[in-house]
Amino acid sequence: MEECESPFKENVMQGKVALLTGGGSGIGFEIATQFGKHGASVALMGRRNNVIDAAAAALRSLGIPAVGFEGDVRKQEDARRAVEATVKHFGRLDILVNGAAGNFLVSAEDLSPNGFKTVMDIDSVGTFTMCGEALPYIKKGGAGRGTSGGLILNISVTLHYTASWYQVHASAAKAAVDALTRSLALEWGTDHGIRVNGIAPGPIGDTTGLSKLVPQNIEGKAKDLMPLYKVGTKWDIAMAALYLASDAGKYINGSILPIDGGLWLSKPRYLPKDAVKQLSRTLEKKSREAATGVPTSKL
Ligand code: COA
Repeated sequence: MEECESPFKENVMQGKVALLTGGGSGIGFEIATQFGKHGASVALMGRRNNVIDAAAAALRSLGIPAVGFEGDVRKQEDARRAVEATVKHFGRLDILVNGAAGNFLVSAEDLSPNGFKTVMDIDSVGTFTMCGEALPYIKKGGAGRGTSGGLILNISVTLHYTASWYQVHASAAKAAVDALTRSLALEWGTDHGIRVNGIAPGPIGDTTGLSKLVPQNIEGKAKDLMPLYKVGTKWDIAMAALYLASDAGKYINGSILPIDGGLWLSKPRYLPKDAVKQLSRTLEKKSREAATGVPTSKL
């Protein structure tokens, strides 16, 4: 559900064509919706045909030119087919959003190598595969394009900025996605005029991620640690995607925007705010009164 009016003009994405993996639900679908509401044509790619079809139909009912393609980002032939079908359908490709991801809570000692690899394959290898298949179309001079390249937007997380419990697989996979974002921004920005950026959401309400990763009984506790004391919305992420995808973001390349209300910066507060003033003044006074002289050392 849309949180509030978009602050962007409704034509900021006019004429652009976007392909979104994982676009049939959650954050990907909200980005597709907002891109479409602001003038873009959108292609959705996902593994579940019924989900993708229903999502594309919902967008079309809003008047948004939308099409869905079934496919798994782990299969290069699916990636190629979705990219080619998008270009065939809409004549060009301007934006690739890599939103497809897999995750589950598991302690590192209970995670099998295949479980680790499965998430790496979806998130990291899948993102790289999609980028490679999109390159011929999204680079400057690609089909239907002029002299400017398009945009790749990788959806990441903030888990790996520090360390996260029971997320070793997703942390590693998204760290690799962030590395891809920066390296491709350098290489493909230079060689092909493509901007490559990332968005790193924190906990976002009404998503599979939140229901799978933040069990309801600890959701309240988690909120107590957050600087803004609330989970984000899909709309928050979609607005950032619009900013990066519109001309407002034309000089932004290789940036990864954390959108988590400051959560990844949070630390437990050991000292109440009222106590800190008193303590600090007392300590300061003591240190000024302490005898001064030549420092001594046992060495
Ligand atoms: N805990 C521990 N291991 C798990 C697991 C869990 N909850 N879920 C899957 N695995 C392991 C499996 O045991 C298997 O490893 P093994 O062969 O050593 O036993 C491996 O992961 C692959 O599982 P499988 O079910 O065959 O994979 P899949 O390709 O059908 O599904 C997932 C991929 C597991 C990532 C699935 O959760 C998924 O499709 N997720 C997509 C949606 C999603 O997670 N969104 C969240 C975004 S934040």
